[in-house]
Amino acid sequence: MRVETFSHTVKVASNSLANKTVIVVDVLRATTSIICAIKNGANQVVPSIDAGTAVAISSRLGGGCVLAGERGGFKINGFALGNSPFEFSPENVAGKSVVFSTTNGTVAIHAVQDAKNVLIGGMINRTAVAKKALSLGEDIIIACAGTDGLVSADDICAAGAIADALVRNASAPLEMSDLTLICSMIYADWLGGRADLSMTKHYAYLQKMGFEKDVEFCFKQDLTDVVPVYENGIIK
Ligand code: MLT
Repeated sequence: MRVETFSHTVKVASNSLANKTVIVVDVLRATTSIICAIKNGANQVVPSIDAGTAVAISSRLGGGCVLAGERGGFKINGFALGNSPFEFSPENVAGKSVVFSTTNGTVAIHAVQDAKNVLIGGMINRTAVAKKALSLGEDIIIACAGTDGLVSADDICAAGAIADALVRNASAPLEMSDLTLICSMIYADWLGGRADLSMTKHYAYLQKMGFEKDVEFCFKQDLTDVVPVYENGIIK
C-alpha cells in the first residue's frame, strides 16, 4: 500500500483519485472543527466552497441548519458560528446540519471529492483516521489543505502524525512517498521539541489573533475515535 502526501490543495485529474482513500487535513482549524461537529452530534456537515453557496444551501435545507465558517480566521458576518473547534459544542450542533465554509479547508475537501473514499483527519483523530484508511485497503493520499495556495507547516506536521499512525497500525510495510517521509520527520522533530511551529505563518497568525486555545486543542493527539466521512457532498 502506497502513502502519498499533497503539500497543499492542488488540482488533480479526478480519475487519478478513483481508487484512492484521501485523508483531508486542515489541522488549523477546519478539519479539527468538522471532527468536533460530528463527535458532538451534528447530523451532517455540508462543506461549501464559498459563503454565498453556504447561505443558499442553508435556505434550501431549512430549519435545523447552522451556518458556520470563517474568513481571515473570524466568523463570517451573519453566520451563527465561526471556525473554533470549541464552537462546535453539543449545545450548538447536536441534531443539526452544519453548513460550513472556510478559506482553505472546505475548498480542499471539494478538490478531492472524486476519490473513492474521503476521510476527515486531524491530530485529534490521527490514529482512528489512520486505522480507518488502512481498513479500506486502497492506496492512501494525505491531502493537506495548506494556506492560500501554499504549504502550511501545521498541516505538514499533522500529516506526519497520521503517517506515523499508519506505519504503527499497518499489517505490512507501507511504501511512503518522499513528502510523506518528510512530514514524518517534521512530526518526530515536533514531538521531540526540536521543531517550533509557533514561528510558522498560520500558526503564528492564529496565536496573534487570540486563538491560542484553539491552536493548543488542534494539536492534541488522539482525543477521539470519530472519523468523519465525506460522500456525495455531505460529511457524516
Ligand atoms: C481554513 O480553512 O482556511 C482554516 O481553517 C482557517 C482558520 O484557521 O480559521
